[in-house]
Amino acid sequence: MKKLLCLLLLLCTACSKPEPHSCPLPAEFITTSYQELNPDYQQLVDAATEVLQNSYNPYSNFFVGAALLAEDGTIITGTNFENAAYGSTICAERAAILRANSMGYRRFKAIAIIGRGKDFDVAEPIAPCGACRQVIYEVSSLAEQPMDVVMSNTSRQRLLVTTIPELLPLAFGPRDLNINISSF
Ligand code: THU
Repeated sequence: MKKLLCLLLLLCTACSKPEPHSCPLPAEFITTSYQELNPDYQQLVDAATEVLQNSYNPYSNFFVGAALLAEDGTIITGTNFENAAYGSTICAERAAILRANSMGYRRFKAIAIIGRGKDFDVAEPIAPCGACRQVIYEVSSLAEQPMDVVMSNTSRQRLLVTTIPELLPLAFGPRDLNINISSF
């Protein structure tokens, strides 16, 4: 009984600790910095950073900016757009992809993502949520080569450049439906 009480006390103490603003990345992920990025990706991160201020986030107070690099070099941005019905929120990545599609762009080389809280910075690179990974997978299947996903922390001193197969292994995709989307 005593042991059980101690365990409960321990659990409660652990739960009441303030959460860090980001989970530290596992050591196998090699990060880079803004200065080390190629100029195209620096521009992409700049665009994602600029659009952060337009994030509509009255519920989470969390700002996310995304920028897509189209195959012809055009950059198209998006921000998260929240909703009182929380589940109707649209993430920055998907906002950018849908906006790009409506502008006639569907094939991209890369997407950059950056985020910050209203009154805190994020220490680790912002990773796209599961739904966004699935949508990035869809457009990545249309692209000439697998898209790069450039994830940045707020200070842009810790960035991770990765690909969608790495972020979403064993993805469900058009091939599972026996559909060839390449002509779309
Ligand atoms: N958010 C994004 O915009 N992209 C992601 O990949 C993760 C989450 C937004 C959604 C919501 O407005 C806020 O961040 C907090 O979850």
